[in-house]
Amino acid sequence: MSSPKANVVVVDHPLVAHKLTIMRDKETSTASFRRLLREIAHLLCYEATRSLPVEMVEIETPLTKTMAPRLEGKKLVIASVLRAGNGLLDGMLDLVPAARVAHIGLYRNHDTLEAVEYYFKAPEHLADRKVIVVDPMLATANSAIAAVEKLKERGASDITFVCLLAAPEGVARFTAAHPDVPVITASIDSHLNEKGYIVPGLGDAGDRMYGTK
Ligand code: PRP
Ligand code: URA
Repeated sequence: MSSPKANVVVVDHPLVAHKLTIMRDKETSTASFRRLLREIAHLLCYEATRSLPVEMVEIETPLTKTMAPRLEGKKLVIASVLRAGNGLLDGMLDLVPAARVAHIGLYRNHDTLEAVEYYFKAPEHLADRKVIVVDPMLATANSAIAAVEKLKERGASDITFVCLLAAPEGVARFTAAHPDVPVITASIDSHLNEKGYIVPGLGDAGDRMYGTK
């Protein structure tokens, strides 16, 4: 694990790095891309949930009574930034099947790179829940900043942002806008190009996941 800033964690695990390399390859199929994103989501979820609170409860094993930990508090929320966030969402739900889910519909205007909202639906009581926002790409950070603003407006205060790839420019803008929100990513790439794409990156995450153009 490496940490370029106090609240930014780069999960530099060999399995994550290997799977990410295959995802970056333009020859990788849509089916493989989706499967790998789901697998990497498991590994990022492990990191994003490591501080979840637990309580001790009494259970009885086949041998004896004992005290053992279980998750406490209200169910956490996974907030998926549509569309591409759904690829990470599926993997997160594999590990935390009881999580509640928020959907935040945002797309980037290709000319201005501003985030345009088209949908928002979230569970109740966000103020009492940990919220993990998932979106594979943190490029300009316009989408991530808007998604977190929306969740904060609805009362969320314990928020973590999880992505697959980040641009240094996006990390700087996001952490300036939301210094209280930790960022977990598999890689911080070199830079953004003139069209706002992450370089070397992997292209358009949504298109590669769903086979669109
Ligand atoms: C992609 C990605 C992020 C956003 C990142 O979504 O999934 O949401 O771009 O870019 P930003 O940091 O510059 O805002 P896109 O707008 O392409 O929508 P899609 O997932 O529906 O394809
Ligand atoms: N969104 C993507 O899907 N890819 C990028 O490189 C930048 C934004």
